[in-house]
Amino acid sequence: MSNEFDVLVLPGDGIGPEVTAQAVRVLEWFADRRKLPAKLTEGELGAATYKRLGTIISDKTQRHLGTADLILFGAMGDPIYDSLSPAERRKGSLLSIRKSLGLFANVRPIKALAQLASASTLRPEVIEGVDMIVLRELTGGVYFGQPRGITTLPDGRRRGVDTQVYESDEIERIARFAFELARTRRNRVCSVEKSNVMESGKLWRAVVTDLHKAEFADVELSHMYADNAAMQLVRNPRQFDVMVTDNLFGDVLSDCAAMITGSLGMLPSASLGAPRADGRRPALYEPIHGSAPDIAGQGIANPLGAILSVAMALRHSMALPKEAELLEQAVGEALAQGARTADLVQPGRQPIDTKGMGDAVLAALEKAA
Ligand code: IPM
Ligand code: MG
Repeated sequence: MSNEFDVLVLPGDGIGPEVTAQAVRVLEWFADRRKLPAKLTEGELGAATYKRLGTIISDKTQRHLGTADLILFGAMGDPIYDSLSPAERRKGSLLSIRKSLGLFANVRPIKALAQLASASTLRPEVIEGVDMIVLRELTGGVYFGQPRGITTLPDGRRRGVDTQVYESDEIERIARFAFELARTRRNRVCSVEKSNVMESGKLWRAVVTDLHKAEFADVELSHMYADNAAMQLVRNPRQFDVMVTDNLFGDVLSDCAAMITGSLGMLPSASLGAPRADGRRPALYEPIHGSAPDIAGQGIANPLGAILSVAMALRHSMALPKEAELLEQAVGEALAQGARTADLVQPGRQPIDTKGMGDAVLAALEKAA
């Protein structure tokens, strides 16, 4: 086994390649200037790959997924996928990648930076000091539950079915992750479900409560219904430390929470699996914003979600918390210097482009190092 980190870079679709290019520049800076032993390989995945090879992911990249130390992911989403058969669409899709690598824990940190207070639609006194994590279960629930599909009924009407399903061990492992994460932070977990209407929610609450009692009584635990959680996120987000929730609620609530930071473009994420034999967890790092086809190809997307995903990779996959902090501080410094992409800029001011933001972060890194 080599000491070099094997990094698979998957820029993907839409603005994915634009923001990932800046994340790669930052990772290369750490390789050059801080002697980070990383070998970067760009994989073939997405609509461009489909047009070239007739499959969303090349076989080589498919194999690499399972062996890479970490994956830097851009975004996935393209109109071309609508015309593919379900089987074609599944192979190489983001959901299949999450499922096949067992990336059950999706960590989405939400941190309100004072420099961006004016970019948020929420009042400064509401968001000041917010530092929380939405921990989303990522390989279960309605995203994968069977049966699913659209069928035609005998009378000609059509029926669409999805299934929300959780088994107790799936709930327990994400709850365990939440409690352990909380112990490294402010020691508070809020578990979110809808046990007032859903059976899977009832089980969720019971399993979380039992695990808490058995192993994590030192952690402060609260429970909240998902509708209330959505309201509390915009009413008083400072109350949260670690919010743990299922796949669908986590998808919705993390987008909602993103506005605390000022822009969806700011949010990084880590998707982690259970440790492998060598102790390393399979890991995929991606900004949460998606492919944003409306602005793709213009070079105006905010790369900070992708760049901050590199910081998460330094912390969670490379065990380099100091380097992660250095990068997060450089992002803060670039913003303090006034670097703003279009999504963050105040009316009447000139935004910088995607590469300009990458330049600003690299300049701040140079200055700090
Ligand atoms: C996310 C995205 C994905 C999801 C889409 C692109 C499938 O919204 O990562 O939050 O729904 O999980
Ligand atoms: Mg989403």
